[in-house]
This record gives sequence, C-alpha cells and structure tokens, in this order.
Amino acid sequence: MSTAHSDAELRERAEQRWEAERLIAALYAPEDDALRATVDAAAQADLPAIQISPLQGQLLAVLAAACGARLILEIGALAGYSGIHLARALPPGGRLITLEYEPRHAEVARASFERAGLADRVEVRVGPALENLPALADLAPFDMVFIDADKPGYPEYLDWALRLTRPGSVIVADNTLRGGGAALRPPTDSTDEGTSAMYTYNQRVATDPRLRSIALPIDEDGLDGLSISVVLPPG
Ligand code: SAH
Ligand code: DHB
Ligand code: MG
Repeated sequence: MSTAHSDAELRERAEQRWEAERLIAALYAPEDDALRATVDAAAQADLPAIQISPLQGQLLAVLAAACGARLILEIGALAGYSGIHLARALPPGGRLITLEYEPRHAEVARASFERAGLADRVEVRVGPALENLPALADLAPFDMVFIDADKPGYPEYLDWALRLTRPGSVIVADNTLRGGGAALRPPTDSTDEGTSAMYTYNQRVATDPRLRSIALPIDEDGLDGLSISVVLPPG
C-alpha cells in the first residue's frame, strides 16, 4: 500500500510513470502535421487548449477500429483535434458527425478537417447538442459515441448515446475522473455541478446492466481520464 512508501519513493514512482507515458506517447501516438496544425489553429483563434491528449486520441482510434466503427458521433468538437483521431479510424465511406455549440469553434474544426483531408467524411453540426441529437435517430445506430462537451450535460448525453447505439457499440466519455478521481466520491454541498454530473455518469455506466464499463486515468495532467463502455446484447 502507498502508506508503506516515503514521500520520496512516491515521487520517484510518479516520475517513472510520467516518463513511461511520455515514451508510450512518442512511440504509439506521435502527432503529425495535421494534428499539430489543429492545436496551433485553436491557439490562434483563442480557443481553450482543452483537446484530448495524443494518447487519448490513439485510444479512441484503437477503440473505433476494434468495434469496426463506420458511423461515429462526437459531442463537443472544439477545434477538431479528437475528431481527426476518430475520423482517421474510419474505413472508406465511414462518417463522423460532431456536434458543437459554438459557431466559432465549429468553423475552426471544419478548417481542421479540411486541412487533414477528412472533410468528405466529417460533418460538424452547430448548436446545443440536445437540440441536434433527436434528428440523429434517423442515422442510428452509431457504432461509437464520444462525449466531451459541457460536463453537466453528460447524464443526458448518456441517455442519448444509449438510444442511438446498438449492442457492440462503444461509448466513451472524457473528463469523468476530474481532478484525480473527485467524480468517484459522492458529491457534497461544495461539489460543482460538472463534477456532480460526472459522479452520476460514473455510477450509471458502472452499474447499468446494458453496459460493460471501465474508467482509465489517462490524460496530460495525470489527474483526469476516460470512461469506456461497451453496449451489451440484451438479456
Ligand atoms: N473533443 C474536443 C474537445 C471538446 S471541448 C477535443 O478533444 O478536441 C468541449 C466542447 O464542447 C467546446 O468546444 C464547447 O463549445 C462544446 N460544448 C459546450 N456545450 C455544448 C453543448 N451544449 N452542445 C455541444 N457542444 C457543446
Ligand atoms: C474542460 C473541458 C474538457 O473537455 C476538458 O477535457 C478539460 C477542461 C473545461 O471545460 O475546462
Ligand atoms: Mg474533455
């Protein structure tokens, strides 16, 4: 147990873990020009630098390939960084629909997909996700859903993800650990709305009999992570 280790030992372990992550990212998830240009374009346009990390992007791509995703839904496009990872994992003829509230973000995202040569397979739909989700029933089932928009919305996005998927589909949500697992502890009066919604999200995906789920501590700061769920066959 960690109590058996001195502070120095813990620090040493944390540093080794960081170094391993850097090496994994360098080998498994090197960024190319299109990804770097997306980060640059976001900064130029004064968008917040809150895109997923290269390792998270590679994990999304691995999951998309593992479930043979041909149709993917993303909620929260920002500048298109995660969307590029997802769209690149699609086979020819595959399609990514990404929902974005801010017209300014959507514009940067469209330019990113264009630059990456992915404009033919990605569609950015602008507006509050909850207003755009109902119409997606016509395209369902989606093979994969990536939730990464406003945090209080996650429980409702999960409801939609369940409606719009099929057994075998994968549902991934970013930021479900929040600050080193805060969203795994029951909320108190001082818990913010987003963290409280993440608590609900974690509780639901961990216990819903329709899903088999895991949460992984994986992100640039080492303090947040992704929840990953597979939709199970009925029964
Ligand atoms: N997935 C992106 C990061 C998304 S950041 C990446 O990793 O590259 C969250 C995005 O969700 C922001 O662009 C924000 O404008 C958008 N957003 C916030 N509320 C939203 C809503 N109600 N509907 C759709 N998008 C929303
Ligand atoms: C925020 C949003 C994200 O999706 C993220 O990965 C990090 C931060 C935010 O709203 O601050
Ligand atoms: Mg996020």
